[in-house]
Amino acid sequence: MVIKKIVILFSGTGSNLEKLLENLHHKTFEHCTIEVATTICNRPHAEGIEKSRHYGIEPLILDHTLFEKREDFDKALVEAIHKSGAELTVLAGFMRFLTPCFTQNIKAINLHPSLLPLFKGGKAIEESFHSPLKTAGISVHYVSEELDGGDIIAQKSFEKTEGMSFEDFESKIHILEHELLPETIKNLLNRK
Ligand code: GRF
Repeated sequence: MVIKKIVILFSGTGSNLEKLLENLHHKTFEHCTIEVATTICNRPHAEGIEKSRHYGIEPLILDHTLFEKREDFDKALVEAIHKSGAELTVLAGFMRFLTPCFTQNIKAINLHPSLLPLFKGGKAIEESFHSPLKTAGISVHYVSEELDGGDIIAQKSFEKTEGMSFEDFESKIHILEHELLPETIKNLLNRK
């Protein structure tokens, strides 16, 4: 059976990281077994660190504040990803702008909490909640030099209901994210 390795990058809570580990790590599908080669976190106190450990993976901590230049941090990331032998890198709540040093060397996908190309950037959930649009959703897309601008791979949407609170809206987004990201990675890798 072919083993396909991925790397997961995260910065915070790590609920998506957890779902990826639960649904994909060491799991065998029709054409491959997926293995999370390593996880990488840029914040030394992120909650997700324990979640990764729970699955037996000690995350590599690359604290971005210790790097003088953005490019230096990205170089360290690229080096660690190449060393892992992973063919796909997954940004699961990884809150860093990435330079061409990363985007030109790493095949990566990102999870974004809006129906791209709408609501790019860090305030997507708030902006989509407060917009007059009746439909909201999430996207998985390839990482390119443009923030949240690479080709879209998969999306899921839902209807905003009358009187929906921000908390309900946010939790709906997370429920969909937890389904769509593992499913999309499986579909990308589980091919002959
Ligand atoms: C998710 O909403 C994701 O779309 C965004 O950051 C959040 C990460 O959440 N990029 P978690 O750390 O996976 O819980």
